[in-house]
Amino acid sequence: MKKVKKAVIPAAGLGVRFLPATKAQPKEMLPIVDKPAIQYIVEEIIESGINEILIITGKSKRSIVDHFDKSLELEVRLEEKGNAELLEMVQELGKLADIYYTRQKEPLGLGHAVYCARQFVRDEPFAVLLGDDIVQSDRPCLRQLMDLYDQVQSTVIAVMEVPQEEVSKYGILDAVQEQPGIYRISDLVEKPSQDNAPSRLAIMGRYIIEPGIFPVLAGAEPGAGGEIQLTDALKVLCREQAMYGLAFQGKRYDVGNKLGYLQATVEFALARPDLSGAFREYLRTLCAKINEPV
Ligand code: G1P
Repeated sequence: MKKVKKAVIPAAGLGVRFLPATKAQPKEMLPIVDKPAIQYIVEEIIESGINEILIITGKSKRSIVDHFDKSLELEVRLEEKGNAELLEMVQELGKLADIYYTRQKEPLGLGHAVYCARQFVRDEPFAVLLGDDIVQSDRPCLRQLMDLYDQVQSTVIAVMEVPQEEVSKYGILDAVQEQPGIYRISDLVEKPSQDNAPSRLAIMGRYIIEPGIFPVLAGAEPGAGGEIQLTDALKVLCREQAMYGLAFQGKRYDVGNKLGYLQATVEFALARPDLSGAFREYLRTLCAKINEPV
């Protein structure tokens, strides 16, 4: 039986939606409360049982590499200050998993970024997690996909139903529900107009993909937005192999968008035992103020 042992995080995007914050730092390093967004993704991968991770980086992404590296200087400082808790947290970060890096030299699109992982992946099924989608769930979203992969031994994509007005923001599936929450995919289209969308089932940023995607990506042409799209390559693969969509359990935050980022920040802070009391109190006062007649 084939098992998923490797995960890829494309993190080479320019982060234009968060300018000027992302002019000199990667959007993946923007913190949600006190943890960079990309660390939530790495933790989801590890909690799902995978510890070989490739991060596809681009320009100005050095801080991602530094973040997951050992920081002797910081460790010495924290030790001198006697801050054992922070010291342990920083040390743990340096040994989270085997993290490898490769650079996407030009921002040619998600499909091209995934193609940069071919040497790392070779001929195994692999996971792809997009940093803009953070999912909070009891069982990690990726683990849910891996469970389905174990059964079907074929490409599996995380999906969610979205309102009709939002279909043009996503890759959309043409699919038939085979069992509750499990869809057999017959076609995929990247960012269709509302009129052309085959359904409201949208691709969320979690995939388990068969290595057969690489020959397809090798010959891929630019699609929506002039970029080489992963969805277009999956569309080709879907004609050759079975492909499934999984409506996962959990709440997804689109942290690549300002409102989604703020929502994640507020809800994650509320879930933090060290912050929730004071923060809840603050929000209560704020809500009362907002509701005051003007
Ligand atoms: C990417 C994918 C799209 C998917 C989305 C999920 O788009 O191309 O198919 O639905 O992620 O977040 P992006 O948001 O990078 O434009």
